Amino acid sequence: MKLKYDLRIIRHPKELTYQIKSYEKIPIELFDNAFDGSKHIAFRIAEAIKEKQRNGEMIKLGLATGSSPLKVYSELIRMYNQENLSFSNVITFNLDEYYPLDPKQQESYNHFMNQYLFDHVDIVPENINIPLGNLSLEEVDSYCKDYEDKIDHLGGLDIQLLGIGRTGHIGFNEPGSTINSKTRMVRLDNLTRRDAAQDFNGIENVPYKAITMGVETILKAKEIYIMAWGQHKADIVKRAIEGNQTSDIPATFLQDHPKVK
Ligand code: GLP
Repeated sequence: MKLKYDLRIIRHPKELTYQIKSYEKIPIELFDNAFDGSKHIAFRIAEAIKEKQRNGEMIKLGLATGSSPLKVYSELIRMYNQENLSFSNVITFNLDEYYPLDPKQQESYNHFMNQYLFDHVDIVPENINIPLGNLSLEEVDSYCKDYEDKIDHLGGLDIQLLGIGRTGHIGFNEPGSTINSKTRMVRLDNLTRRDAAQDFNGIENVPYKAITMGVETILKAKEIYIMAWGQHKADIVKRAIEGNQTSDIPATFLQDHPKVK
């Protein structure tokens, strides 16, 4: 019971699932470790990709950055290498990007996605969409609207992957984000900037802003997987799955989604 809300290290998952069920407003699945949980999600994504392939259709995936999805991506790469999983019918939309930041910089989420997924699979480069952090301020609004419209015109996201920040953010929808927020520029919470300090070699180098899909953009996805591995996430996970829906913890808005885990 030490790690009651930790999704990573649970000694007796069944017993704990039973105990937590009565409180949870987002269905949860507990795994012995992050690798097992990531494999489970990667398998679901792979099945969805193959199903669309059989029907001659494209699949639209909403992708996340941060440490949480890393093992999902490495498992997908393994399936590509060892099980002939093709990404030729995959279109991706990433959640967010720091602003201002050049996409070529190694701290950028553009760089991250290439490094941990796209460079290793057969996705068509034109099918990759990641917000750009090097736009001029004047360009941002119309860029965000186009990003949103592109997702809609393609019929929406089939699967959205999410992590959760310690402020309760999803994407970079920080406290204060509303349920009907769309893709836009946001100001980052100081806790989020502190959490990113190591990646940027000091908080003074962490951008103050970001471009992120909105809460509404995320909620439009047909199926959502939110991952949280590790004790440091336990408190915010508890508040996200048990608390009342509030802009103070944007992840609570997932509670109404019909297919979120
Ligand atoms: C960043 C990203 C989020 C991510 C969060 C958590 O803030 N914008 O999308 O969920 O980090 O990161 P981690 O998975 O490393 O804990």
